[in-house]
Amino acid sequence: MVHISAPTDRITSICCIGAGYVGGPTCAVIAAKCPEIRITVVDRDPDRISAWNSDSLPVYEPGLDALVKRQRNTNLTFSTDIDRAIDQAQLIFIAVNTPPMPHTHGSSSMGAKPDLSAVSECARRIARVSLTDKIVVAKSTVPCGACATIAGMLRDNGQKGVGFSVLSNPEFLSEGTAVRDLLHPDRVLIGGDDRVAQDKLKAVYMHWVPEPRILTMNTWSSELAKLASNAMLAQRVSSINSISAVCEAVGADIAEVARGCGSDERIGQKFLRPSLGFGGSCFHKDIASLIWLSESLGLPEVAEYWHQVLALNRFQIKRFVARILADTSREGGLSGLGGRRVACLGFAFKEGTGDTRNTPAADVCCELLRNGAKLSIYDPRVPRHHIVDKLAMSAASNCDIDSVSVCSDAYSAIAGSDIVVVLTAWSEFRQIDWEQALKLMSQPAYVFDGQVVLDHGRLEQLGFNVFSIGRAHVTTQ
Ligand code: UDX
Ligand code: UDX
Repeated sequence: MVHISAPTDRITSICCIGAGYVGGPTCAVIAAKCPEIRITVVDRDPDRISAWNSDSLPVYEPGLDALVKRQRNTNLTFSTDIDRAIDQAQLIFIAVNTPPMPHTHGSSSMGAKPDLSAVSECARRIARVSLTDKIVVAKSTVPCGACATIAGMLRDNGQKGVGFSVLSNPEFLSEGTAVRDLLHPDRVLIGGDDRVAQDKLKAVYMHWVPEPRILTMNTWSSELAKLASNAMLAQRVSSINSISAVCEAVGADIAEVARGCGSDERIGQKFLRPSLGFGGSCFHKDIASLIWLSESLGLPEVAEYWHQVLALNRFQIKRFVARILADTSREGGLSGLGGRRVACLGFAFKEGTGDTRNTPAADVCCELLRNGAKLSIYDPRVPRHHIVDKLAMSAASNCDIDSVSVCSDAYSAIAGSDIVVVLTAWSEFRQIDWEQALKLMSQPAYVFDGQVVLDHGRLEQLGFNVFSIGRAHVTTQ
């Protein structure tokens, strides 16, 4: 234990290192709920900080704009002066990113250790700058044991006589509902071995979170609960997606199967939406981290179990693209998608966000490009340059970026296309006037719904050839 003499007064000043999807919204909510606490969010990226200080925030989340704009004038500051913010804070959140390490060539590991270099850099900096005792809180999802590593760094590099308490306080917010999740969390975990520090952080949350929902535990439990929660959620998505493949083969409807299963209270309805698989910044990384942990503990069976969740996720994209190729190359005897224009509706990794980290849409787009398609992409939230950059990054794997155009609305993307693919579950795609869309498309017109969001019966009535994940194939031709 590194705790020497943690501060005894109530927390009135917080610094958060990392002004990303987690750090920004979390601090905005704490600022709103705790008027007596001054919060400074810092980041090494000056453009990010300028954006947080502007009218156009770097993160889109419903309700966030109003919250940030209100608190910015009172107790919430965004700054690049990291040292000063650390110096003035009693409690410091570390909310920097922890990407998976690149796979080492020749390694037999199926997992990936998260790259803790940014977290370590924060710990060394806090140690160097701090002249008074600090509570240091790991907000980023970290591998199990990371808090102990942070504590060791603080001990080894800190100023003489300065005490540090390290806590694990993982964030469970989902993108697109971040503000709601932060305001009404199912639970808050505070892992640590310093009761005084745990109680101080608990007192911050108790401004708005009912006490029974604030769970204190040891550090390992807290770190592992975060990894396990994400792994179990991802596993549920892979489970329903595995059943979707069976549905397509036997003529069952995945929506009906999901309702049939989810009506059992023990199973529940949530997280049973079939899809092209899970994306986002957390699920892949955290499962890879769990696999790596299991392997390093000599538990290959556990590693293999979680590895299958990732394998199934990749399978979903592979078979979706195979279906597009199989169904559309019947027409005209064309091989692959040579010369065909595909309208791609959606690009974000999920609805309600502009984030494209690990988005299944990019994988589908790259596969379509490799098969000779020309793409017209529309997403309501992802800026044009993000789509182009993301696909350009995949250009190394032979994506022809010149065959991509990014459109500002769904109708422009659909006009002149042979095939529509739905890649993100935006509800606005349901509102498209599909009768008009059919007239804008070449005939026969195809719709491949990778997110099970459209009214398939209506589309078939209009004369579309429709394929949806989890549904036996119906063709009007
Ligand atoms: C998420 C999760 O919170 C986290 O648990 C996971 O480990 C990584 O992804 P998120 O807020 O979404 O974090 O990450 P991101 O939006 O990339 O924000 C991280 C911020 O930290 C960036 O703005 C980056 O510039 C900043 N950063 C990173 C620093 O300020 N210093 C560093 O050394 C590294
Ligand atoms: C996730 C966790 O939910 C959150 O608790 C954690 O803090 C960060 O990781 P997030 O990645 O923002 O949040 O989104 P989430 O809603 O969990 O969705 C993740 C992926 O799974 C998305 O690609 C989504 O489209 C997909 N998904 C989700 C499905 O395919 N089907 C579902 O039923 C639910």
